[in-house]
Amino acid sequence: MNILVTGCAGFIGYHLVNKLLKKKNYKIYGIDNLNNYYDVKLKKNRLANLKRNQKFKFYKNDITNLKFVEKNFKENKYDIVFHLAAQAGVRYSFFKPSIYIDTNIFGFLNVIEVSRKNKIKHFIFASSSSVYGGLKKYPFKENQKLENPISLYASTKLENESIAKLYSKNFALPCTAIRFFTVYGPFGRPDMSLYKFVENITKNKKIELFNNGNHYRDFTYIDDAIEYLNKILNKIPNTNNSFRVFNIASGKPTKILNYIKIIEDKLGLKSKVVCKERQKGDVFKTHADVTKISKFTNYHPKTDLSKGIEKFINWYNHYLSI
Ligand SMILES: NC(=O)c1ccc[n+]([C@@H]2O[C@H](COP(=O)([O-])OP(=O)(O)OC[C@H]3O[C@@H](n4cnc5c(N)ncnc54)[C@H](O)[C@@H]3O)[C@@H](O)[C@H]2O)c1
Repeated sequence: MNILVTGCAGFIGYHLVNKLLKKKNYKIYGIDNLNNYYDVKLKKNRLANLKRNQKFKFYKNDITNLKFVEKNFKENKYDIVFHLAAQAGVRYSFFKPSIYIDTNIFGFLNVIEVSRKNKIKHFIFASSSSVYGGLKKYPFKENQKLENPISLYASTKLENESIAKLYSKNFALPCTAIRFFTVYGPFGRPDMSLYKFVENITKNKKIELFNNGNHYRDFTYIDDAIEYLNKILNKIPNTNNSFRVFNIASGKPTKILNYIKIIEDKLGLKSKVVCKERQKGDVFKTHADVTKISKFTNYHPKTDLSKGIEKFINWYNHYLSI
């Protein structure tokens, strides 16, 4: 089985490749442009770990380069594609909108179009909890009507779902969209709150607290997210009804103030907080209904927030010491 993971040097891509490399008879290929949205060294360190395994082959290139994507698919004859490469981040999309259109729209189109042409068996891609926008009907269900994204990032993800739906209908390409909810854990992203909070509290620097910490996030531990992807991989939608969408989350929202308290307890340190207004694009609460994915995979998240934060801190301390 030949599997492509785009965005393999990214946080989720790295963990997914690691998991897939443990399976027998799987050859894993990865594409990533190693952009500098955050610390490139972290991406290179993730890659260095993956490259130790002979069954992994890496291409440093850009998904907006259609010629490259076409040639790469022809050469490697993929069975399954995990398309995770994207410009992530809600807030950044207010400052650098064109990157979101280039990578998340044109790049996405390249990968799905070439997947179609090469008759890929299953196209699985990263959507986001942000597609629920400012909806206040909790918990968020996959079949809710979505029409109000509140950031450009969210609208690119909503557009991805719409394109994939069309491709599965018009071309019978089996597609699965994954709406990830705040994934965290070891090798996590430096632009996300857990990394920033742990780093700043440890260094006795101030942390920025938006909306007085009164909003809520549904956090997903990385190993749980990967286990879901692993279980979905071979459950290919049939060609008559080939588009599927799943929330991947813990289903348990936590107030940001409580989240900071857990981090402080685990570090044995107090934070210094600067209160700021709610940021544009930030939603008040994310809370997923996880019934659909739990029934489909017969899997339930195993790592609670407290344990997950502890695992992140252990990794962070170890990572900085080497
Ligand atoms: N981490 C989360 O909590 C979360 C939540 C919702 C959705 N997502 C989505 O899941 C996917 C993976 O997220 P992540 O947290 O691992 O992010 P990440 O930024 O760590 O990984 C994305 C990777 O894609 C690569 N990339 C970006 N543009 C590219 C391009 N044009 N060509 C080739 N490679 C490119 C980046 O270099 C990066 O390594 C993304 O699509 C993201 O939008 C993540």
